[in-house]
Formats: sequence, structure tokens, C-alpha cells
Amino acid sequence: MEFKHFLLTIDEDGIAVFTANHPEKLNAMDADSWREMIAFFTWADTAEEVKAIIVTGAGDKAFIAGADINSLAVKRPVDCLNDIGQDANRLIENCSKPVVCAVNGYAFGGGCEVAIACDFRIVAENALFALPETGLGILPGAGGTKRLSRLIGLGRAKDMILLGTQVDAQEAVRIGLASKCVPQDQLMDEARRVCKKLLKRGPVAIKVAKKVLNASFTCGDDVSSMLEYLALSALCGTEDKQEGVTSFLEKRKPSYKGF
Ligand code: COA
Repeated sequence: MEFKHFLLTIDEDGIAVFTANHPEKLNAMDADSWREMIAFFTWADTAEEVKAIIVTGAGDKAFIAGADINSLAVKRPVDCLNDIGQDANRLIENCSKPVVCAVNGYAFGGGCEVAIACDFRIVAENALFALPETGLGILPGAGGTKRLSRLIGLGRAKDMILLGTQVDAQEAVRIGLASKCVPQDQLMDEARRVCKKLLKRGPVAIKVAKKVLNASFTCGDDVSSMLEYLALSALCGTEDKQEGVTSFLEKRKPSYKGF
């Protein structure tokens, strides 16, 4: 795939690195960038060669500094209906492959919203999360109001969205916004390490567990319990489950087939 706003590499382990590539404007996202993100995640969801995805930003200053404020300046009410930022982040959240965000600096506005749509956030020491939108007379419109409160609680989400409170790398780990903080020069190695760890586990189990975890937020207790045992029942019919259990009993490493 060819992109104007991103770089894409895929290594021999199937780890795709998708890099926002406008460091001169701190990787700010315009409508075209969101469309490319949608195209990539739509493809990657079923692409055999992609097993896990890392999303990051070019340069050492920013992951993504939010919506491109130049395009925001001319945004009309009608442009916000069916917002493409929401579509992109929904694709990330529902992607059948695990998605790790390597946050290498500012994760502002839409950048913060991309980061919290990913399954894991590994942050460099210079990472800074913020949702400055209310200071610009708008609100986070790419799923941020919903996802942030789920992740860090309503009170902290209000702190960030209503007050514009910024959260640095250490605080992000402390409040569960990020899972680990590392020096910037170790960020990509750490993100790859997380992906490799995920790839050693049963791929069907990872895919199904991610779907059940996500769906459980939007349904009641009875339905989420039912989803959980139906998913468990389906996984018990896979060869991977047999391999996982047998390899444990035989004291060897499992070799999963993905079915
Ligand atoms: N949209 C468009 N351009 C942006 C941008 C954005 N969201 N964020 C940064 N840039 C551009 C700057 O205009 C500047 O361009 P220039 O060199 O042509 O002047 C360049 O990126 C570097 O940014 P700069 O502001 O000089 O860096 P800084 O280190 O002093 O500050 C930030 C970094 C992130 C604090 C600051 O750029 C900022 O507040 N950006 C806007 C963030 C935002 O509000 N995002 C949400 C939008 S809804």
C-alpha cells in the first residue's frame, strides 16, 4: 500500500509499523490523513501478512499533535457528521490484530484519541497527553469523550477534557492511560517486545478476547456474561486450545496455527 501521510513497514514477524509522517507539523491529521488511516486499518484487519500493528509518529517530538488546525479553521457543521476520525478509531479499536501505540512525544487532541483507541500505549519519557479542544471552542470528536472516561474514569476524563489538564508520561502510567514508560531511544524496541509477546499467545484467543472485552462495555451484565461463555465455548473447539493445554502438560512451548 502507498501512503502520502504515513510510512508503513512490515517485518518478518508480521509486525506492521504505521507511522504518521508529517514531523514538520508534529504529525497533525487532516481529513486525508484520517482517510489513509481508515484504508490501512481496513486492509490490515484481514491481511495475512500482518499479525500485530504499532502506530507511532515520525520525529522525536510528537506522536500526533491533533487535528490539523488549518483544516479545523474551515470545518463546517456538515463536515462533522459521520466524522472520519471516529470511523478510523473504531477500526483501530475493533481491529482483529492487536494494536500497540508507541507514543513518542505530544499526543494531543486527535492524537490522544488515536492512542486511546489502541490496545496498549507504550510511552517515551517525553510523552504528553492532552485534549485541548474545549480551549478551541470545540470538543474531542474522534471518540475521546467515550473512550477516555472508560480508561481513566469520568473524573480524570473531565479534568483532561473540561480543564485541558495535560498528563505526562509518568502520570499516564500511574493512572492507567499508558502501560509502560521507557527512554525515547528504547520506545520502538519496547513496542516490538510487546507485539512479540502477544504473538506467542493463541492468536484466535487474543482476537476473541479483544472483541469480548470491547463489547462488554456496551452491553448489560447478562449479555456480557453470555458473550463470555459463548466465546469460551467457541475457543474450546479450536485446535489452538488443544495445543495450548497439551503443550503445557508436555512442558513445551505451544505452536499455534490460528484456528
Ligand atoms: N495543526 C497544524 N499545525 C500544527 C499543529 C496542529 N494541530 N500542531 C503543531 N503544528 C505546527 C505548528 O504550527 C508549527 O508549524 P510552523 O513551524 O510552520 O510554525 C509546527 O507544527 C511546530 O509546532 P510548534 O507549536 O512550533 O511546537 P511547540 O513545541 O512550540 O508546541 C504544541 C507543540 C503541541 C504544544 C503546539 O504545537 C500546539 O499546541 N499544537 C496544537 C495542538 C492542538 O490544539 N491540537 C488539537 C487540535 S483539535
